[in-house]
Amino acid sequence: MQEDRLTIGIIGLNFGRHILADLESGSAAEHLKLGAVCDLDANKVNEFSKQYGVKGYTDMDDLLADPEIDVIGLYTGPKGRARLLSHIIRTGKDVMTTKPFELDATAAKAVLEEAQSLGRIIHLNSPTPKPNAFMEQIHAWEQEYHLGKLVYFGGEVTASYREEPDGTWLDDPEQCPMAPIFRLGIYLINDMVRIAGGIDSVQGLGTRVFTKRPTMDNANLCLTFQNGAIGNIYASFCVNNGQFYGNSLVLHYENGSIYRNCDIQDYGTSMNESHLRMVSVDKDQQQITREWRQPGGSGQYAWEDFCEAVRNRDISSTPADAIVHGVQVIEAMIRAQHSGKLEKVNH
Ligand SMILES: NC(=O)c1ccc[n+]([C@@H]2O[C@H](COP(=O)([O-])OP(=O)(O)OC[C@H]3O[C@@H](n4cnc5c(N)ncnc54)[C@H](O)[C@@H]3O)[C@@H](O)[C@H]2O)c1
Repeated sequence: MQEDRLTIGIIGLNFGRHILADLESGSAAEHLKLGAVCDLDANKVNEFSKQYGVKGYTDMDDLLADPEIDVIGLYTGPKGRARLLSHIIRTGKDVMTTKPFELDATAAKAVLEEAQSLGRIIHLNSPTPKPNAFMEQIHAWEQEYHLGKLVYFGGEVTASYREEPDGTWLDDPEQCPMAPIFRLGIYLINDMVRIAGGIDSVQGLGTRVFTKRPTMDNANLCLTFQNGAIGNIYASFCVNNGQFYGNSLVLHYENGSIYRNCDIQDYGTSMNESHLRMVSVDKDQQQITREWRQPGGSGQYAWEDFCEAVRNRDISSTPADAIVHGVQVIEAMIRAQHSGKLEKVNH
């Protein structure tokens, strides 16, 4: 464990409580130590400040004024995240936050530009600062085996939830559009942007199978890419297949195909491990197959990269264009949810 770990204050203690556990004994603990917790809800602040033996605040400004806090983890809901981020970076703190980055692409772009001009770091878990190792391997095979033009890019993410309405943003189709896509398929949207580039248009379908929430629990988003490929993302809270979370990709090219985690994965490994298979043909039309397996997937917090960027003041480490494009896709998805039609992504 590094001696000179940065001290982090965590804002938002609902999902954020899992980050507290990670800071105590998980991957974050090696790089950061918890200095304080903050939430508007005083009960959560009391519970977690006691449990972890750290300071607790109900007002974000008190946390931001604490000189012992080096960096901030922001784990509030996506709506209005840009406004909170802007407030935080203006106090001179760097931030790690979470997916989905925002609902409003203009606000997302503005805050990332503001961070650049102030010299502040904003990172999140999807998209991460650097492409994941499996993405590098996909690009290496594309080159080595001359896979040619990408024509289809599909992704699936599956889980089994039986949720009840609780009055939070998860019940609101405006704040949580095409819910399984926004909550879980968001990783696949950001992966697709990272691997295949710009998305041109989207169209969605969704149903409510088991959920008692007013938002969908079973959804499909079709996409077209600027390079002519067709994409598809299926995300569902209705599938109990022992692979929580199931997370797979299929890429078809003019000269081959690549599959990520398309075979049966052990429970809990599909998001955090990558098993790639490639099939192509040589000049004599003989089949070539390749296989690659490594830990690491999408959506993990790159804590080491964050701390390195903070120490080196590396503002170029934020993948601003990819973040904003992901939010532009979300905006088009919201329009598609209303219209039921194909909607252009604004660039
Ligand atoms: N694996 C992951 O990284 C992962 C998993 C689940 C959720 N998330 C993301 O985490 C985020 C939070 O999700 P959630 O379900 O916990 O949302 P939530 O709305 O249930 O909880 C947000 C918490 O933040 C607090 N809060 C809001 N505004 C605040 C403010 N100004 N100051 C202090 N506290 C404030 C609220 O009181 C609440 O406790 C979402 O963007 C979600 O998508 C990430």
